[in-house]
Amino acid sequence: MTHLIGKLYDWLDERTGIKGVLHEVLDEKIPGGARFAYVLGSALILVFGLQFVTGMFLTMYYVPSVEDAHRTVEYISKAVTSGWLIRGLHHYGSSAMIILVGLHLLQVVIWGAYKNKREVLWLVGIGLMMVVLAFSLTGYLLPWDMKAYFGTQVTVNIASEVPFLGDFIKRVMLGGTTLGTITLSRFFMVHVIILPASIMTMIALHLYLFRRAKPAGPFNLTEAAAQAKTDTFFPKQVFKDAVVGLVVFIILVVVASKWPAPLEPKANPADINYIARPEWYFLWLFQTLKYFQGPYAIIGSMVIPGVVMTVLATLPFWDRSPERHPRKRPKVIFGLFGGLAVIGILMGMAIQEDRTVFKDTFAKQHAAGEKFMAQPFKPKETGFETEKKAKAAPPAIFETRCAMCHGKAGEGNMVGPKLTAVTRSKADIVKLIENPAAVGAAKMPPMAGIPEAEREKIAEWILSLRD
Ligand code: HEC
Repeated sequence: MTHLIGKLYDWLDERTGIKGVLHEVLDEKIPGGARFAYVLGSALILVFGLQFVTGMFLTMYYVPSVEDAHRTVEYISKAVTSGWLIRGLHHYGSSAMIILVGLHLLQVVIWGAYKNKREVLWLVGIGLMMVVLAFSLTGYLLPWDMKAYFGTQVTVNIASEVPFLGDFIKRVMLGGTTLGTITLSRFFMVHVIILPASIMTMIALHLYLFRRAKPAGPFNLTEAAAQAKTDTFFPKQVFKDAVVGLVVFIILVVVASKWPAPLEPKANPADINYIARPEWYFLWLFQTLKYFQGPYAIIGSMVIPGVVMTVLATLPFWDRSPERHPRKRPKVIFGLFGGLAVIGILMGMAIQEDRTVFKDTFAKQHAAGEKFMAQPFKPKETGFETEKKAKAAPPAIFETRCAMCHGKAGEGNMVGPKLTAVTRSKADIVKLIENPAAVGAAKMPPMAGIPEAEREKIAEWILSLRD
């Protein structure tokens, strides 16, 4: 058997060169040995894979139009088997991507891993981060609930502040002058075609450049010391990557189960009292916007994010010293943590303000969302299949005592009304059977001698007939 597999493998290798490829992929040397510190890149690829697969399933049901977008997302969340889980994983997976991108970036900066001819690798990484943010911005609109509509309205308005090109950009984003079906269609196309194609190409490029530059290795070891203690990528690093990937997946499943992905009522453009908020990772930028009003708005919306991104993107070009140890690079490390502190403070202020000044409005908006999620999905039109509960057979007593007036399956006849849409409570029906006049059904004769337990069973069955 092993002999046969070996032969098959040789056969395949002769035609594909797979042995060389696997050697290239799996036997990469890791200077300083395998570490949990190196898992972030792999974890990102795994979560992206999860986003890809869950996104594929969502796309099977989702329809990007003003008529259908919200209903199809509601359908996925409430009626499709495991739809809530798939959507939950995709919803929280996007936050996981952002967190992992942040941690990956943080580590590369702290470890000085962008140095030594890695400028292009770094730039592709920054590009990847922007693609991830673009995924988030385009995905935000797709559910077409209140949050999606008004949140995207803000995004589009910010984009329209770009000097000279603003109006043009706005038109291109909207596909016209208002946020509507064409906007949804565009955002959807970018979200499921342009961005996935871009990110896959860029991940491939990033990995290629990474392999070419070789892993930077620990910052506290000399080149020689790191080379003296190496592992190959497989199996030790692969194992660590797999463990972390699994942990991230479990966390996502737990979070998605405990707090199902929210969906607010369908977008109502007329509700001008709705207060929009971006995703949590944009809150700091959102807070910055508040400080620059009127003609200065562009400072918050363009200048500050632009400067931050430029400084970050050009880091390997202005930090040229080969020194990698964070303690010997105080400027970059202080800059990094200073920047993070400012972002943290701005974020805290944004949250604080929403919890105090806008407390009531948010409580109301939140409650509306909860209420909407608690309602069952009602297919108003065809094309949405929900699980039909098989109608239970009527209790025996119903057949002998009631069917002659209400029909065999409670469908009603000339004498008695149908019982398939009774709006009475259970207690009411239990009483009605014995004494119809007492609960306003005097046209029905009292049905004496049916024990309470039996009447309850009949009442439950009648209520089960309702849709
Ligand atoms: C002789 C015919 C007859 C029989 C037998 C009969 N019903 Fe009725 N039932 C009626 C009529 C007529 C009404 C309408 C009463 C009214 O509106 O005043 C009614 C009303 C009801 C209603 C209220 C419907 C509504 O929409 O509110 C229920 C529930 C009901 N019946 C259950 C039963 C059950 C259970 C039995 C057997 C234990 C039974 N009935 C036996 C004739 C009958």
